Amino acid sequence: MLVLPRGVRHIPGFLDAAAQRALVDDIRAVVEAAPLYTPEMPRTGKPMSVRMTNCGALGWVTDKARGYRYQATHPITGQPWPAIPGRLLAIWNAVSGTDIQPEACLVNLYADTAKMGLHQDRDEEDLSAPVVSVSLGDSCLFRIGQTTRSGMTQSIKLASGDIVVLGGEGRLCFHGVDRIYPSTSALLKNGGRINLTLRRVTKPQSA
Ligand code: SIN
Ligand code: MN
Repeated sequence: MLVLPRGVRHIPGFLDAAAQRALVDDIRAVVEAAPLYTPEMPRTGKPMSVRMTNCGALGWVTDKARGYRYQATHPITGQPWPAIPGRLLAIWNAVSGTDIQPEACLVNLYADTAKMGLHQDRDEEDLSAPVVSVSLGDSCLFRIGQTTRSGMTQSIKLASGDIVVLGGEGRLCFHGVDRIYPSTSALLKNGGRINLTLRRVTKPQSA
């Protein structure tokens, strides 16, 4: 039996078909304001296989010269990122278990052959809030490990409407996407998979 690391939750089918369609419409509006672009790996400048954009006060970006970071503006247009759609904030509030609000939502678009190597989400100053990740479109094979790179990993299939929460002891678990299963969903008219990752970046002001 598959037992996920402590603090890691997979919630299959959290969003029904209508909620998925509504979210795709929201993301379409985000992408109109903040076009998808191809990010580069730090130092090597090698293009990533996913295309990205963001919404929220801060967006996660990477390029050859300056590496992984958060910034308030789109790296190509120079414009502030559009706001996080209300529907996504509602998902965060339903599953995150915290009153802390997210500041960043990374939008990843995976074409059929795209993948993402095993990594930790650790560019955030605040690690007390969880990472909340929403899958839309084609299914993928998601790999989840431990908090050390050499730790045991397990693979789970994520389908459209599924949510993954990395919180508490699982906040820094290694994770990645080994493959996309093309044509497993009709949600996106051009196929592929969208992953939305909500995160808190800065430390909240203490009351
Ligand atoms: C990510 O870690 O940025 C994306 C994870 C996913 O696509 O499910
Ligand atoms: Mn990640």
